[in-house]
Amino acid sequence: MSKIILTGDRPTGRLHIGHYVGSLRRRVELQNSGDFDEIYIMVADAQALTDNFDNPEKVRENIMEVALDYLSAGIDPDKTSILIQSQIPELTELTFYYEDLVTVARLQRNPTVKTELGMRGFGDSIPVGFFTYPISQAADITAFKATTVPAGEDQEPMVEQTREIVRKFNSVYNCDVLVEPSILLPQNQASMRLPGTDGKEKMSKSLGNCIYLSDPAGDVKKKVMSMYTDPDHLRVEDPGKLEGNTVFTYLDAFCKDEYFAEYAPDYANLDEMKAHYKKGGLGDVKVKKFLNNVLQETLEPIRTRRAEFEKDIPYVYDVLKKGTEKAEAKAAATLSEVKKAMRIDYFEDQEWLDSQIRKFETRQ
Ligand code: TRP
Repeated sequence: MSKIILTGDRPTGRLHIGHYVGSLRRRVELQNSGDFDEIYIMVADAQALTDNFDNPEKVRENIMEVALDYLSAGIDPDKTSILIQSQIPELTELTFYYEDLVTVARLQRNPTVKTELGMRGFGDSIPVGFFTYPISQAADITAFKATTVPAGEDQEPMVEQTREIVRKFNSVYNCDVLVEPSILLPQNQASMRLPGTDGKEKMSKSLGNCIYLSDPAGDVKKKVMSMYTDPDHLRVEDPGKLEGNTVFTYLDAFCKDEYFAEYAPDYANLDEMKAHYKKGGLGDVKVKKFLNNVLQETLEPIRTRRAEFEKDIPYVYDVLKKGTEKAEAKAAATLSEVKKAMRIDYFEDQEWLDSQIRKFETRQ
C-alpha cells in the first residue's frame, strides 16, 4: 500500500516555533526521507473560517504567510503538494456524506472540540460549521487516502474520529475505499506542546507569547531574554527548578549536543547544564543567552530562505496553484469511489440505466 502524508494548518497567523517543533520540522524530515509516495500539506482556510467567518480578511492575508513559512522551513514543492483547502470542492462534498455517519453526541465528546468551544466562548451560539469541523477534517485526511498525519497531540482526537468514520464507511458500504490514518506525534514531550514565552500552557497569537519563524533575530533575542524561568531562582547561587522552566523546555525541544562546543563549552550536553542549574551557580541570563544562540541556529536559515521567497511571490502563488490542482485530482478520484460505494454514481454507471429500463419494461 502507498504511504501518503496529509497534514495542515489554519492560516490565522504566521507560523511560530510551536508549529515548527510540533509538526513542521518532522514534515520536512519525512519529506526528505524518501519513504513516502505522496505528500500533501494543506492551508486549511475553510477550517479557519469555521471560527473566523466574520473576519475573512485575516484568513486571506495569511495564506501567503503560511506558504512562505512552509517553503522557508524546507518544504520542497517538487516533493510535497501545498494546497489551499477551500479551492477543492470535493472536500466539501465528502464532508456532507460523512455527516451521515457521525452522531451529534460523538461530536460533543470530541475532546478538542470541547476545549475549543470553552476557549471561544460561543455560549449558546455555536456555529454548526465549527461544531462539525472534525468531519471536515476527516474529509481532508481521507480524500488523499493519507496513511500518516504528522501533527501535534491536540490533533489526536481528530485523527481518532477520522478512523471511526473510515471504519463505519467501509463497513456500511461494504467496501475498502477509505484508508485508516495514524497520527505521528512529536518525538519528545517538550515538542508535543511548546509553552508560550510567558510559561503559559500554549503558544498562541492571542496570548502574545509567540516566537514566530519569521521574527527578526533581534526580536527573538528580546523575547528569549524576557522569558519565564523559575520565579524562585533569584540569585545565581540559588538552586534552580527545571519543571515548568520555559527556557529549559525550549532547550529540550531545540538543543543539539553539537551546540555546546561553540556556545557553552563548559558543558558537554544539556544534562550537564541542567545539573549545574539545579545545584545552583548557573544564572538565568547565561542559559537564556545560550538558548538564544540555539534558536538562532535553527531560525537563521529559515529567515534567509524566507527573504529570498518574499522577493518572488508569483513563484509562491504558482506553487500553491499547482499543488492545489494536483491535490484536487487526487480528491476527485477518491470522491468518485465514495459515490460509487454509496450508490450515487448514476451518470457513471450504465448498469443503473439498464436496470431502470428493465424495471419499467416489466411494468408495461
Ligand atoms: N486542525 C488543524 C489545526 O488546527 C489543521 C488541519 C486541518 C489539519 N485539516 C487537517 C491537520 C488535516 C491535520 C490533518 O492546526
